Amino acid sequence: MEEIIEEIKALPLSKNIHPDVNILKSIYRKSLEDSESFWRKIAEDLFWYEKNGPVYEPKETPPYAYWFKQWKTNLSYNALDRHIENWRKNKVAYYWESESGERRTLTYYDLCKEVNRFAYVLKNLGIKKGDRVTIYMPMIPELPIAMLATVRLGAIHSVVFSGFAAHALADRINDCQSKIVITTDGAFRRGRLIDTKGIVDDALNHTKSIEKVLVIKRAGNDVNIMEDRDYWYHELVPSTNPYIEPERVEGIHPSFILYTSGTTGKPKGITHGTGGYMVWAYFTLKTVFGADDKDIFWCTADIGWITGHTYVVYGPLLMGLTSIIYEGAPDYPRPDRWWSIIEDYGVTIFYTSPTAIRMHMKYGEEWIKRHDLSSLRVLGSVGEPINPEVWNWYYKYIGQERTPIVDTWWQTETGGIMISPQPGLALVPLKPGSATLPLPGVDADVFREDGTPAKPGEKGYLVIKKPWPGCLITIWGDNDRFVNSYYRRFPGVYYTGDFAVRDNDGYFWLLGRADEILKVAGHRIGTAELEAAFLSHKAVAEAAVIGKSDPVKMQVPVAFIVLRPGYEPSPQLRMELTKYIKETIGPIATPQTIYFVEKLPKTRSGKIMRRILIAIVENKNIGDITTIEDETSIEEAKRAYEELKTMLS
Ligand code: WT7
Repeated sequence: MEEIIEEIKALPLSKNIHPDVNILKSIYRKSLEDSESFWRKIAEDLFWYEKNGPVYEPKETPPYAYWFKQWKTNLSYNALDRHIENWRKNKVAYYWESESGERRTLTYYDLCKEVNRFAYVLKNLGIKKGDRVTIYMPMIPELPIAMLATVRLGAIHSVVFSGFAAHALADRINDCQSKIVITTDGAFRRGRLIDTKGIVDDALNHTKSIEKVLVIKRAGNDVNIMEDRDYWYHELVPSTNPYIEPERVEGIHPSFILYTSGTTGKPKGITHGTGGYMVWAYFTLKTVFGADDKDIFWCTADIGWITGHTYVVYGPLLMGLTSIIYEGAPDYPRPDRWWSIIEDYGVTIFYTSPTAIRMHMKYGEEWIKRHDLSSLRVLGSVGEPINPEVWNWYYKYIGQERTPIVDTWWQTETGGIMISPQPGLALVPLKPGSATLPLPGVDADVFREDGTPAKPGEKGYLVIKKPWPGCLITIWGDNDRFVNSYYRRFPGVYYTGDFAVRDNDGYFWLLGRADEILKVAGHRIGTAELEAAFLSHKAVAEAAVIGKSDPVKMQVPVAFIVLRPGYEPSPQLRMELTKYIKETIGPIATPQTIYFVEKLPKTRSGKIMRRILIAIVENKNIGDITTIEDETSIEEAKRAYEELKTMLS
């Protein structure tokens, strides 16, 4: 990659543009004009068993490209074995810290041995290429170890965030028909014990595909072990160090499934390939953070989300970096927990979400001032738009006005960062609140409703016009949904579901979701999924869920519920429904408020008038709501609004 930059720096560059913007634009042009040679050069930094045929092969149907179709590789080989063949063998891969302060250090060699031992166990349990493995675990080193062991065998992992409840876990197991679940006896969160094995047991009452459960001892709590189904990991793991030959998989072999919310009640199994995803994880970490061997990298995301997959597990290990895994809550036992970790390990690159930053803003600067944060050199933000006020606070108090902030826009579907400043290539002037420019290979644009490009300053839909290596390859088991969700609205073009606007410098400003998906503390929650959960409760006849703005979490779910005959609104019922949502989806989906109403405002064709519900919770009058549902006249909307207000008063 360094080669490409050198080549471009040697070109004559326009005088009127910031030199780094010039460099970035030239690399960008090159990546789109000759993707074959551009990505081949990047791919050569990594190991492949075979390199047959082209890197990039156009395809008739979405996602319109095969990446590394006939090339063969293995993610775990690249993340581990490749490093132990050189000086990185005893370099630290992970510093792990538990919530209670226990520490573990794993070098690349340690990690490689652990992954081989884990792969040995999985293999003996019958796991082979193409099998699905569900992983439901807290943030302990065994989580990345289990993931790497799975891909080592060419099997496909589906990590389910450990904050999801039994019902949500069961749905995700049933959808991909996994054969095995890997979990722990328990987990710790804010000093409390969470019964992960108990949640798995509940989920398994509603699944048929699971043959075996592999349990890792973490919390030491009592668990139920079902004979011939449940196995303690420590009883199966060999005391020796077996070597498990990595499976040589094709570039387009699925490496993992990660479920995310869509616009229906059913989560989507976002499926990533191997070669393209690997190159994307590696390349984006390098360009955006400019990370190298001296860095101590810390991405605070839970591995149960895509940010954790790409920037706690695959990206850093592919780059041979040292990174941090922290098990607990950001403010436990005290609000300065994160700052003390940065100080203790000398973290140089710190990557987190605007929600977390807003939470720390509320705690105040004195918690930060107790710590030496001078090791930091790049700060990152991900998951939601970062407003200028939060950006400036992050810059001033965490970055101490020295470090650039990379505001990184991407999605579960994109595999890695798509639009962001790229100090690893060249640092363009930053504008608080803008994710700046697309990465090489990302042909981003803003479209109007009719599919024509929007002008600078005109709000529209963010689209990606060309295939890029990190793109999802399908939705597990539902290729039609894949095509319809991403490639139908603007035929042949990837639709992101986000609003955006470009300014006169070509910088992108992300303006939030254009669909019915909420962003709650950076997590994606489909209103349809929540509505379906409400409707599965015996007391609920109709449900509508919307997002209300929240000063810390960005949005929180608010529900409007029509009860079935025979049920009366009461505080008890409200509590019961709240608890029910926590137990079906998980605490992250907890509605902030539940309103009981006699009917929901609907259009003539029966569509819920969501804008009216939003106007009510945001305390706006109907005139402030710019667009109302198509077929509704202002008069009708006003009437529905007044009626609803009366019902609630
Ligand atoms: C949605 C994707 C990206 C990994 C974590 C979330 C929003 C993400 C930004 C940003 C504005 C952002 C978008 C996107 N989003 N990053 N820097 N600025 N919005 O992944 O759960 O798949 O959510 O998060 O709305 O579509 P995800």
